[in-house]
Amino acid sequence: MQLVVNLIVAIAAHRASGSLLRGFQDLQDYNFDDEKAPVHNLQDDVKFILYTREGPKEGELIINSYEVLKKSHFAPTRSTKFVIHGFQSSGYSDTCQEIKDKYLELYDYNIFVVDWSKISGNLIYFIPATSTRQVGEYFASLIDLLITHGADANDIHLIGHSLGAHISGFAGEYSSVNVSRITGLDPAFPSFGMIQLSNGRLSYHQAKFVDVIHTAAGTFGLMDAIGHADFYPNGGVMSQPGCNGITDFTAACSHGKSWQYFKESIDTNVKFASYKCNSLDDFSRGCQMVNPVYMGDHLDRKARGIFYLKTMPEVPYVINN
Ligand SMILES: *[C@@H]1O[C@H](CO)[C@@H](O)[C@H](O)[C@H]1NC(C)=O
Repeated sequence: MQLVVNLIVAIAAHRASGSLLRGFQDLQDYNFDDEKAPVHNLQDDVKFILYTREGPKEGELIINSYEVLKKSHFAPTRSTKFVIHGFQSSGYSDTCQEIKDKYLELYDYNIFVVDWSKISGNLIYFIPATSTRQVGEYFASLIDLLITHGADANDIHLIGHSLGAHISGFAGEYSSVNVSRITGLDPAFPSFGMIQLSNGRLSYHQAKFVDVIHTAAGTFGLMDAIGHADFYPNGGVMSQPGCNGITDFTAACSHGKSWQYFKESIDTNVKFASYKCNSLDDFSRGCQMVNPVYMGDHLDRKARGIFYLKTMPEVPYVINN
């Protein structure tokens, strides 16, 4: 019975959001330029920029073509990381650039930044949000190209912030292989929160291992545990330490902490010890202060469940016990 009710609600909501979306589209078509219409020309709207230690500093634009890939500095023998930004952001944002720089400082990897700013820049949030599946599917075709040309699926890690987390999920879902890992950095909540209303979202079915860091749960970020391992630093909600007042008025500061913690974790010396507890209170009372797992890039892939930890308000965020 509940299922039927949900289904009816879902269909009604889908119709409603469909016409809402069409309304927005019309608005766009008439009042703004046609190029921003939500039927995307993905080849133009989504860019893959490859960064390597020996390649050009400004990166190399990779399109879905073997010829282009072959001429680039991509090396299938290296591990490959993808970084995907969120709403109102771009491949040149601090999120993508700082994570990429940290990796290349420490490791000889292929780092792809996925720039979908032509879509994510649309202020009408519904349009970028409902486009994540399309963008993810297109992104999957690049992953398939890498696999066809020697990359190992076990060495592919997608790291997505906000709406980029859901794009990573869809890319995992559409790629012909099960990618090794997806890390969701405060996966976006709005319009993904109510599963009936959404066109899917990041889930632990979309890669061999899915880990999630929640920092603005219930506002910009999702509260639900959706990965194999979900981390709730400082309880996972706004305001994260160091965020308050006007800087966190819209939870933007807290939402950003997810990628900042992740970036710091790329250094193996940084150990964000996290514990399987029932809540942050439980954590503060010293629940199971044994067998920590370490949140972030070097997380043990056997980690399962919900983990809590605390951080410092400023860099370095890690608390060393
Ligand atoms: C990929 O791995 C996940 C986690 O083990 C699993 O749930 C999912 O079914 C796998 N997908 C495919 C297509 O094999």
